Amino acid sequence: MKPSGINCRILAAAAGALLFLLPPAWKAFGEERPGAPASTPESVSAGKAVFFEYCSGCHGRRADGRGPQSINLVPKPQNLRNAQFMKYLTEERMFASIAGGVRGTAMPAFELNLPAEKRWQAIHYLRSLTRGDALQISNAPDHQAVPAESRNPVAYSAEALASGKRLFLNYCASCHGARADGRGVIAPNLVPMPRNLVAIASWGEKPFIDYMPDSRLYDSITNGVPGTSMSPWIKVMNDSERWSLLLFLRDQAREERERSEKNGGSPAQ
Ligand code: HEC
Ligand code: HEC
Repeated sequence: MKPSGINCRILAAAAGALLFLLPPAWKAFGEERPGAPASTPESVSAGKAVFFEYCSGCHGRRADGRGPQSINLVPKPQNLRNAQFMKYLTEERMFASIAGGVRGTAMPAFELNLPAEKRWQAIHYLRSLTRGDALQISNAPDHQAVPAESRNPVAYSAEALASGKRLFLNYCASCHGARADGRGVIAPNLVPMPRNLVAIASWGEKPFIDYMPDSRLYDSITNGVPGTSMSPWIKVMNDSERWSLLLFLRDQAREERERSEKNGGSPAQ
């Protein structure tokens, strides 16, 4: 028996434990305070891969907070496509939340699993999702009169349609459903529920919005529908963004019509 050997091992273990207990000191030596690298198309697409691998289980592949693991979490992961939230979320805070996690929530610390470079790539990707949204127009009026003869000034184009679709999925689909059929995830909790805007009735009648002039629908999107959960969007999006939403809705109704014609006139499922 060599007591000195045991002592040595105890000492070594104690020293190891001490090092383990002092990560801040170790980090101060090991990791430089990272500066923010510039966002590039390459860093955005690298960030997408990082996001899909490490984050989408909770935040969802669309970053809308509805990943498969989100179901059991309280609080829920943030909807990172909500430009109003993202606008006030600084890159420093995002970096800190991703590195250190968010205490009291399921948001884990990625400091030891993801190098700083990859954390920045994820931030660049997240930023890119809402960059185009001209949101929170604080000096916009509270209400906009919409003359009955107003027509959608946004001409049909692939870009305008894509922009309307993106906005719809980000801001409207939770209530109206991704296809505007009224089957959004929170629709069952609403009174009244959003109607199916685009369906052909079983007796073959045209979709609701086919009967509605542009001015009526744009008025509802701009100023809201009093007495329902349909809020005004006038302070959230600019005019052409709101019109592009209507372009998307009309296109959805056209798709439903074509689907029903293919089914020999019966409504799409
Ligand atoms: C285990 C589930 C989970 C995983 C995995 C996860 N998150 Fe989160 N995340 C959350 C939750 C829950 C919140 C909400 C915290 C709150 O309510 O403030 C959150 C919040 C955030 C926020 C907002 C932080 C803030 O300061 O308000 C960002 C940004 C974020 N996550 C990015 C990421 C990124 C990037 C990844 C992948 C590298 C990721 N998350 C992985 C659950 C997760
Ligand atoms: C919180 C839930 C909710 C959100 C978010 C929401 N809506 Fe609505 N919406 C409703 C409800 C409820 C109604 C009223 C019932 C109906 O007409 O479907 C409605 C009505 C409408 C109508 C029909 C209005 C009319 O003139 O009869 C349109 C068009 C519409 N919403 C578009 C949108 C668009 C575009 C967005 C996104 C910018 C949006 N909604 C976001 C709940 C919502």
